Amino acid sequence: MIKGNFDIPLDFLSAKAPPLIGVDICSSSVKIVELSELPKKAGYTVERYAIEPLPKDAVSDGNINNLEAVAEGLQRAWKRMGTRIKNVSLALPAAAVITKKILLPGGLREEDLEYQVEAEANQYIPFAIEEVNLDFQVIGPAPGNDAEVEVLLAASRKANVEDRVAAAQSAGLKAVVMDVETYAAEMAFDQICAQLPDGAVDQCVALVDVGANVMNLNVLRNGQSVYARDQQIGGGQLTQMIQNAFGLSAEEAEAGKRNGGLPENYEHDVLAPFLENVASEVARAIHLFFSSTQFTEVNYIVLAGGCAALSGLDDAVATRTQVKTLIANPFARMTLSGRIKPRQLQVDAPSLIIACGLALRRFDPS
Ligand SMILES: Nc1ncnc2c1ncn2[C@@H]1O[C@H](COP(=O)(O)OP(=O)(O)OP(=O)(O)O)[C@@H](O)[C@H]1O
Ligand SMILES: [Mg+2]
Repeated sequence: MIKGNFDIPLDFLSAKAPPLIGVDICSSSVKIVELSELPKKAGYTVERYAIEPLPKDAVSDGNINNLEAVAEGLQRAWKRMGTRIKNVSLALPAAAVITKKILLPGGLREEDLEYQVEAEANQYIPFAIEEVNLDFQVIGPAPGNDAEVEVLLAASRKANVEDRVAAAQSAGLKAVVMDVETYAAEMAFDQICAQLPDGAVDQCVALVDVGANVMNLNVLRNGQSVYARDQQIGGGQLTQMIQNAFGLSAEEAEAGKRNGGLPENYEHDVLAPFLENVASEVARAIHLFFSSTQFTEVNYIVLAGGCAALSGLDDAVATRTQVKTLIANPFARMTLSGRIKPRQLQVDAPSLIIACGLALRRFDPS
């Protein structure tokens, strides 16, 4: 159930969505994933996916700076996919969304509830109420107090929502779900946890996403995020190191890192120090997690993001942290359509977590 008297509802709280594909607009690329469900809810099939690079700085820190470039990238990716589905689910970066649980008197009429939510929201939102999309969901009776109800508030800057909707629209697509990246990651994470011994019940699993510019640590326990933090480190730094070491252009360095063909001393002189650097940042982030929560142990580290494809990162992280480390593949338990190249999907899978979580919004999550 979702109540939004606003232009584009932030409906990551609602359950069922029409047929849709998941679209992740991130700093290095646009990623689209299409999933279908097997009969009798027996699992999912990866139908199609595409990753289309974006020009540098078209998107930074979750903000779309170059709407035209994003729309073109999206359109190219969609055409290449060869799908017919035009409904898309999109996500906002966690930093662009504020969520808060509040208590309100029970038994309010619809309009009164909306009025109260807006009045309460004013206290928590650091921008003018006209600038935000506001959404809410009544969770149920307040624990230990029948006279009140617990309500989940979600607010986001309108500009963040509208830019994404506009990019989809210019690409000929229709935004039907606006999720939050953290929730989309949680959704895909269920698929990953199911691969861990005993489903990692009651254990802390650190999802470490190393992208182009940002490393995000998200610690999950029983499918819920208990801690999240960003650090400024990513594959862009490795690209720069390759450029400096061998006098290559950004494009040449990027291609070399993915496909090989770099000078012989690359692994020892450039890659290894970068992997060490990332591993020590992961260790530091986990220490910070311990010191700012009641938790004292991380049982697994799951590596995601484009950099998870770098050979040796898992070993470097495991050695440094002494935690069992594996590479995320949210599709491991899914069947693949004949169109999908399994080897390539294996390489791309760690960077498709959010797009996968968004594609899963097509199905009733219950
Ligand atoms: N196969 C690969 N081998 C090595 N590096 C790769 C590979 N694929 C992607 N990368 C690197 O991963 C980075 C992109 O990862 P990802 O797509 O997760 O980033 P992003 O989500 O766009 O960025 P951010 O999370 O920082 O906003 C780039 O630096 C890219 O060079
Ligand atoms: Mg990313």
